[in-house]
Amino acid sequence: MNKTTLRTALPQNILLDVLKQNQGKWISGEALARRLSMTRSAIWKKVGILKEEGYEIESIPHRGYRLINIPDLLLAQEIHDGLQTSVLGKRDIHRYVSTDSTNNRAKELAAYGAAEGALVIAEEQAHGRGRLDRPWFSPGGENIYASFILRPSLPPSAASRMVLLTAVAAAEALMETTGLRATLKWPNDILVSGRKIAGILVEMSVEMDAVDYMIVGLGINVNSPAERFPRNSRNKITSVLMETGKPFSRVHLLTRFLELFEERYIALATAGFEPVITRWKTLTDIMGKQATVRTLSGSYTGVITDMDQDGFLIIRNDQGAATRLFSGDITVT
Ligand code: BTN
Repeated sequence: MNKTTLRTALPQNILLDVLKQNQGKWISGEALARRLSMTRSAIWKKVGILKEEGYEIESIPHRGYRLINIPDLLLAQEIHDGLQTSVLGKRDIHRYVSTDSTNNRAKELAAYGAAEGALVIAEEQAHGRGRLDRPWFSPGGENIYASFILRPSLPPSAASRMVLLTAVAAAEALMETTGLRATLKWPNDILVSGRKIAGILVEMSVEMDAVDYMIVGLGINVNSPAERFPRNSRNKITSVLMETGKPFSRVHLLTRFLELFEERYIALATAGFEPVITRWKTLTDIMGKQATVRTLSGSYTGVITDMDQDGFLIIRNDQGAATRLFSGDITVT
């Protein structure tokens, strides 16, 4: 089964809850059928679906069912159950074993009218995309590939500040859950020990100068070992496993990110982006550094002096002239 969609309070989710509450113990098909007001054959089918998703459930005729183990997969129900948000991931969660790009799936859903908060996750991406259509390396079963839909009452120009908000939430989630020190590299990189551990791709659809939807895509390298990455990029990329020497729960990291993101997103209505930008500046190492920024309209060299309230990076050259940059590739020299 390549795709599962979680909608809360469906019998399958309740069945899983019951199995989890009794993990390791046998429950008869009859008891489950009574509890869920379903036939025994319906229970059998639903258990089959859970097994296909990856839950390890033993079934023996006349004994019933027993949940043995919940594997470390990005399972929709596991994400939903642990999540303390009100909207993000609390409605539909669409989980793919493999897809080309979770941003592509989220865009399709949004174009068909999916509500704010719908979340798409994948174990593997065949064509994970980064900024400027660069490939995002997305091997299966090890990392986080997640995209969600926002329908903010913001102008399209807020997209770059949304990237900053996402970066702040991702860095905070990484630091809080793994203990690593994360830093931010403008515009959309999260680094640990100077190497990229996570990246963000925000895309949007605009109608009549207003945002119809924004897709926030986040990739975090969690459990990939060094040898998984292409040889020529190994010195620039890292993962939680590579930094800590231990595998880490992707569900835990993703849920914490979604919570921190939502907190800051809700706060935009009252506080605007100022707290986000202030926090972003404390998490980056580039302020005050000499750098070269390559943009689509040319290269700029100078000292990075600020990030302004609109989310533009300010670079001041040797002659003292300041330029506001919207996006680009920065190299600290
Ligand atoms: C970058 O660093 O250039 C951005 C990388 C963004 C990768 C994530 S993984 C989930 C989502 N789906 C994609 O195809 N891209 C984003």
